[in-house]
Amino acid sequence: MKLNEKQENMLNGKSGEVMSLAMKTLVNYGDAFQAKRLVEITSAHVAGSFGIFAVKSYYNIINRIVTDGLKVKVPTTVNPRPGNRLHMVNQVVMNKQQFLENSFKKMGIIPNYSCACYDGVNVPSKGEPVAWAESSAVQYANSVLGAKTNRNSVMIDICSAVTGYVPEFGYMLDENRRGQILVKLKIDKMDASALGFIIGQRVVDKVPVIEHYPFTRVALKNMGGAMAASGAVALFHVEGLTPEAPDMKSIFDREPEKILTITQKDIDDLRTKDLSKTTSVVFGCPHMTLEEANDLAGYFNGASVKRPTCFCMTPAAKTEFEKSDRGQKVTAAGVKLYDHCPVAAFTVRRGNRHMLTSSAKCFYYLAGTDYGTKEDCLRACGVKS
Ligand code: F3S
Repeated sequence: MKLNEKQENMLNGKSGEVMSLAMKTLVNYGDAFQAKRLVEITSAHVAGSFGIFAVKSYYNIINRIVTDGLKVKVPTTVNPRPGNRLHMVNQVVMNKQQFLENSFKKMGIIPNYSCACYDGVNVPSKGEPVAWAESSAVQYANSVLGAKTNRNSVMIDICSAVTGYVPEFGYMLDENRRGQILVKLKIDKMDASALGFIIGQRVVDKVPVIEHYPFTRVALKNMGGAMAASGAVALFHVEGLTPEAPDMKSIFDREPEKILTITQKDIDDLRTKDLSKTTSVVFGCPHMTLEEANDLAGYFNGASVKRPTCFCMTPAAKTEFEKSDRGQKVTAAGVKLYDHCPVAAFTVRRGNRHMLTSSAKCFYYLAGTDYGTKEDCLRACGVKS
């Protein structure tokens, strides 16, 4: 990889030993993928936000960064808290949470604590190179905002944030952002999260282009999150909707490698058939935005939930929602508002069996959950017939 003078100096220790190690990590990472250079980034998003006791080497590295006084060079956001205070088992398993949060503060990381960092906090423009980790956020940055990032790992995100660079390969290059698989829809009742799940399973790590459908911003978020979980998709396009796909002709360089058709039956097959078994209901993964919570709020007005129900929201959205009239009606109906990651928080908890979620990402990662559409979940809550 060819480095410029400033990068060479950083690599050679002119900015200290820890900075040199961060540069070395990025250079090795880039070399492994035949990157030709490091490019400047405009933002970073860090995924390693769960203070799980076992990952000691991560804390040692973070500690060295903090002790050396390194701070992030670009606006950097961070993934959700893991629900460490939710109950005793979580407190024990996630006993490094406070250390991690103190360290992030010293490094100058924005304490947004959400995977939906793009919801008004970290919003790069089309074409900007960024270094994000967290597969659902990567999907949103690439697909919905048109920024450029690979699916970076924990530590690569930190090294990029403190150096301000990332190796240029993969989705950082325009030629790798073109459509590969054409997705046709034969769906009467759209469920974007389920659709994302099925696309991810079938295209794995290719770039799908979905024929035009007027998905909302929230639907794109939930669809992308699911696609990145059931597959390894980092970028999708929707014809005539997402920024790099004004039409099919411009997004495909050549004939699609494959044409997939997703049907209503595919969507319906994912749904649980028996809501009577549902033990609790969880909404929000990726984190719910205010828009999403407001959209659901009307159903809970004057109602009382039949089963334990929670909304997992961005901390900023939660704060605003709980102050609002709508939010107060939702909590009066018995809904708990959280701002942690449901997958992290509920993984160690017993009793996830038949927890129902309208997030296909949560369904994929959280053992014992069932999948249902938003309407299924509202029915299970007893607020919709
Ligand atoms: Fe976010 Fe946790 Fe889901 S990080 S995408 S709420 S698994």
